[in-house]
Amino acid sequence: MLRITWSCIVLVCCSFTLHALNLNATSSSSSSSKILVHPHQHPDPQAVVHDVNRRVNESVTRRQLLVVQVRDQCLTGNPIDDCWRCDPNWESNREHLADCAIGFGREALGGRGGNVYVVTDPSDPDPENPPPGTLRYGVVQAGPLWIIFSGNMVIKLRYELLISSFKTIDGRGANVHITGLGCLIIYDVTNIIIHNVHIHHCKPSGNAKIRISPTQVTERGRSDGDGISVLASSKIWIDHCFLSYCTDGLIDVTEGSTAVTLSNNMFTNHDKVMLLGHSDDFTADSGMQVTVAFNHFGDDLKERMPRCRFGYFHVVNNDYTQWGMYAVGGSSHPTINSQGNRYLAPQDNNNKEVTKRMDTDESEWRKWNWRSEGDLMVNGAFFVTSGADMSPQYAEASSMSPLSASYIDQLTATAGVLVEQRSDAGTVTNPSSGGGIVTNPAAPGSSGGGVVTNPAAPGSKGGTVTNPVSSGGDGSSCYPGQGSTGTITGTSGWYTDNGIDYGSIYNSEARTPLVPMTSVILSVIAIVAFLHRTCS
Ligand SMILES: *[C@@H]1O[C@H](CO)[C@@H](O)[C@H](O)[C@H]1NC(C)=O
Ligand SMILES: *[C@@H]1O[C@H](CO)[C@@H](O)[C@H](O)[C@H]1NC(C)=O
Repeated sequence: MLRITWSCIVLVCCSFTLHALNLNATSSSSSSSKILVHPHQHPDPQAVVHDVNRRVNESVTRRQLLVVQVRDQCLTGNPIDDCWRCDPNWESNREHLADCAIGFGREALGGRGGNVYVVTDPSDPDPENPPPGTLRYGVVQAGPLWIIFSGNMVIKLRYELLISSFKTIDGRGANVHITGLGCLIIYDVTNIIIHNVHIHHCKPSGNAKIRISPTQVTERGRSDGDGISVLASSKIWIDHCFLSYCTDGLIDVTEGSTAVTLSNNMFTNHDKVMLLGHSDDFTADSGMQVTVAFNHFGDDLKERMPRCRFGYFHVVNNDYTQWGMYAVGGSSHPTINSQGNRYLAPQDNNNKEVTKRMDTDESEWRKWNWRSEGDLMVNGAFFVTSGADMSPQYAEASSMSPLSASYIDQLTATAGVLVEQRSDAGTVTNPSSGGGIVTNPAAPGSSGGGVVTNPAAPGSKGGTVTNPVSSGGDGSSCYPGQGSTGTITGTSGWYTDNGIDYGSIYNSEARTPLVPMTSVILSVIAIVAFLHRTCS
């Protein structure tokens, strides 16, 4: 897979780094180091599975108990989101996010307890000596750091971004795109949280000297062009990201990594989506434990959602809207526990099977433990289970069954990058009259419109803002106003930003807004008129 040439890579920043791993490996594609006990492997993966089931049940139940009028965006039924989005002051307590993970990666601390670092400079001029203000400068600092962004930005990397232990990359409050060469590498580290960023159009990067700490530089060879590569690392949580159009994988987790949760992400436009496990002879991956939850596997994906080897994989409450070849697959006897997903098969009658076993005789794979429980099969989809039938024993041992896929729309409604509505249209005031009036629309040449405040108080009927993005985007070049999100109903303070055709925007160097300000003004007038109509 990824060819790595490390010169000097012994990270000593944390006492519980992966001592058991063979840090001396220079090229790992054929190495099969004997790691029998992985430091962060959970001794009872089934207990982690039950804990996820319990937390989803609690969040959904809490929401169900509310009367309709009181439900708002903050109680979605999604236990991760419900943990932090109910706090209107989340911005002053960003580190609380680190309490909100579920599944095998739930202990990922990220930069919790460290300083906040603000990325102000989207450039990537020098991988060996990154200037302060850049993302690269932040990710190589010693100790914990909570990295945020001063505003919307497109970070075009020139080389792999090697992230050191105890870092959070937190894109909330801004539209952050990371693209270019190399993209994100999480190698031989622990405690990383990547949250709410777009990662797309990642391409292989060439040889380079790249800084990995204030005192260390490493030599890197050509990379694969993954969106995010997690290698020999643990306690990793990737949440609410949007990933598409990379050269190799969107997220690859390999080389003895474990304690990983991949949640609330949106994946589109890609062949090999997610590889969990390095190769069939890399037995160190037998300690791999990964939770794949609440993701939306969207348009134009072919395979590997995920493709697993050796370890334990909990694939729970994800929404699959078609695949090219298969959805969940693997080799080397992985345990796959598929619960409460919605699998929508493609039209092609030859590709209705959710599952795929690679390069193995049926007599062998019949022993692998692949279970499907509470999954919703749509359009002829079918899941071929194998292994011992654990359901009776499971039901007995478990006080909590997995949530059925009937809640999937609710749980995955905001998969992908969350964007605050306030950075879009004009100001919406007067909410309780059942709609509200847009005042203070964006002045021409302003940086992007006013603020939508409290568009629907509890109990009101709320208003509907149609195509808020088409009213001119946020004034940045990233969001030229294509109306990508459709409708925001009155109760939402956030929308999910995933529908933009990145291909046409990012393949050109042009950074000019595509919609002239006159149409901004016209659109705002249209919204005002629309809301007036709603009120009357
Ligand atoms: C790495 O190599 C050195 C020197 O050959 C050896 O002393 C050390 O134990 C090795 N470390 C690991 C983790 O294999
Ligand atoms: C949550 O679990 C309880 C107890 O097992 C069950 O009665 C209830 O139906 C579950 N709720 C949902 C929404 O599945």
